[in-house]
Amino acid sequence: MDNLSSPARPCGFPNAVTRSAVTRRAVLGGVTAVGAVAGLSACVDPSTVEASSTPATPAASGEGTVAATAAELAVGSSLSVKIGERTYLLFRPAEASVLAYRAVCTHAGCEVSVGEGEFVCHCHGSHFTRETGDVTAGPARGPLEKFRAEISGEDVLVYL
Ligand code: FES
Repeated sequence: MDNLSSPARPCGFPNAVTRSAVTRRAVLGGVTAVGAVAGLSACVDPSTVEASSTPATPAASGEGTVAATAAELAVGSSLSVKIGERTYLLFRPAEASVLAYRAVCTHAGCEVSVGEGEFVCHCHGSHFTRETGDVTAGPARGPLEKFRAEISGEDVLVYL
């Protein structure tokens, strides 16, 4: 879904950043963790966002990108991370599993943040499950774009 790669633009909804951390691996790998509770909000052109009806996990392509350390993502927790210019949401439901989603709202393209037990878009109030990326409250109708991810040793890898 390359049409989600449009440059971000401000959407006028302030969003507090409550935690900012750069890990050793992040510096080496060009990945920056941006928040466990909330991330910066940015929008893309709504006309470029397509709602998908299935949250299917795409097959892995190439090598995984280190998105965080396993220690940064405790079991049951979520994390917002930057990989390059894009933001992704991670959720670790169990010791050996992790889920990854692009943090772009399927309503109008605002950045989705980590909320209390779910992912939240602060632009118009859409909520998404951490387990599937499905919408639990609109106006968004489509699930978050999902990526294959895994715990590999001390690293959380996302396959983009
Ligand atoms: S852009 Fe996310 S709810 Fe509207």
